[in-house]
Amino acid sequence: MDAAVVEQFGKPLVLRELDIPSPGPGQILVKTEACGVCHTDLHAAHGDWPLKPILPFIPGHEAIGLVVDVGSGVTIVKEGDRVGVPWLYSACGHCEYCLTGWETVCAQAQFGGYTKNGGFAEYILADPNYVAHVPADLAARDAAAIICAGITTYKGIKETAAKPGEWIAISGAGGLGNLGIQYAKAMGLHVCAIDIDDGKLAHAKRIGADLVINASAGDPAAALKKETGGGAHGVLITAPSLTAFKQGVGMTRKRGTCVLVGLPPGEFPVPLFDVVANCITIRGSFVGTRQDMAEALAFAAEGKVRADIELQPLSAINQVLDRLEHGDVASRVVLEFASDSSEMTAVGHTAVTAAFPGNVTAGSGREASAAAQLGYPDQAVGTV
Ligand SMILES: NC(=O)c1ccc[n+]([C@@H]2O[C@H](COP(=O)([O-])OP(=O)(O)OC[C@H]3O[C@@H](n4cnc5c(N)ncnc54)[C@H](O)[C@@H]3O)[C@@H](O)[C@H]2O)c1
Ligand SMILES: [Zn+2]
Ligand SMILES: [Zn+2]
Repeated sequence: MDAAVVEQFGKPLVLRELDIPSPGPGQILVKTEACGVCHTDLHAAHGDWPLKPILPFIPGHEAIGLVVDVGSGVTIVKEGDRVGVPWLYSACGHCEYCLTGWETVCAQAQFGGYTKNGGFAEYILADPNYVAHVPADLAARDAAAIICAGITTYKGIKETAAKPGEWIAISGAGGLGNLGIQYAKAMGLHVCAIDIDDGKLAHAKRIGADLVINASAGDPAAALKKETGGGAHGVLITAPSLTAFKQGVGMTRKRGTCVLVGLPPGEFPVPLFDVVANCITIRGSFVGTRQDMAEALAFAAEGKVRADIELQPLSAINQVLDRLEHGDVASRVVLEFASDSSEMTAVGHTAVTAAFPGNVTAGSGREASAAAQLGYPDQAVGTV
């Protein structure tokens, strides 16, 4: 199978031809139809975060495809089902977080395209208990961005606790922000989109933003407070920029909630007096649960949100990542895979048969060490 592999952090992905993995007990094999390219894939390929994936690995966590093989004991999906293989690849199912609907922070969680090989490949192994179930009336290419950009913004908006009729400010109108604007409108909120790119703001307006602010022109928090009579009840920061985080806290209305979902490496200063004296909540939010996934997909299947996508082949992945890094992707690129794999062989792959670590069957020592490495911080910034 063709796959795009991170072999060294900060270097272009390498197009390889690898063996198609076989599903072990409790696993399924998914033939990829489409996979979105998220800014997280860029962070992963750069090794941006303190806890890094083990090299080599195949990124991609917005993969949609058809189940083509099931391992022993699998009953929840069957061959021919259309599923999504998301960031939350699996979790233990038994810890206090899994039992209380917070499976995203399970210490045993595995992450698609990070601790497990992901969807920049023609086939992916998946855990049938954690795949997304794609509604029948949603095409693979349209479902792809929903299973990360969609779920993350939908859940993030819920985490702001902003109510219909109130204001939400969405900082970053890229892949996540575009869907966030649409979910927020569908949830009855007034939306202010903030970005540093006028083209993205013009598009945000077209898809329903009531107000747009260019953060590079003046003080965006002051502008937002003026327009909304005191700031946004909810703020959702998707921008991969530390400046945007500081500005986002400043945009939050008294007693409002600022939800952080963007993941640029580093830290940002919090103006303690303002946060305390205005009773502001700052909260991290990490993708969403399987229930959030079903809800996020239902909005898309009902036509209430629609990812604005540009289709590209897997062979274009390095140009796509380069454009994403430089802010040159309008919204979301989705890699579309040919249904006949022979169409994908023109990109000069090097044939290798090495077993990639993410492809080993569940429970191996290598996987366990990857999971242990990845004790993601509990809710990146606690409630202040
Ligand atoms: N928390 C989660 O579960 C989760 C899930 C998915 C992605 N993410 C993270 O969200 C971030 C965004 O991902 P994406 O795929 O939407 O990226 P993207 O590149 O498609 O979009 C980012 C947008 O932010 C804008 N931007 C940059 N600097 C800005 C600033 N200072 N102020 C306002 N806007 C600014 C860019 O112009 C662009 O439109 C990444 O860091 C990614 O890792 C987090
Ligand atoms: Zn993502
Ligand atoms: Zn758990």
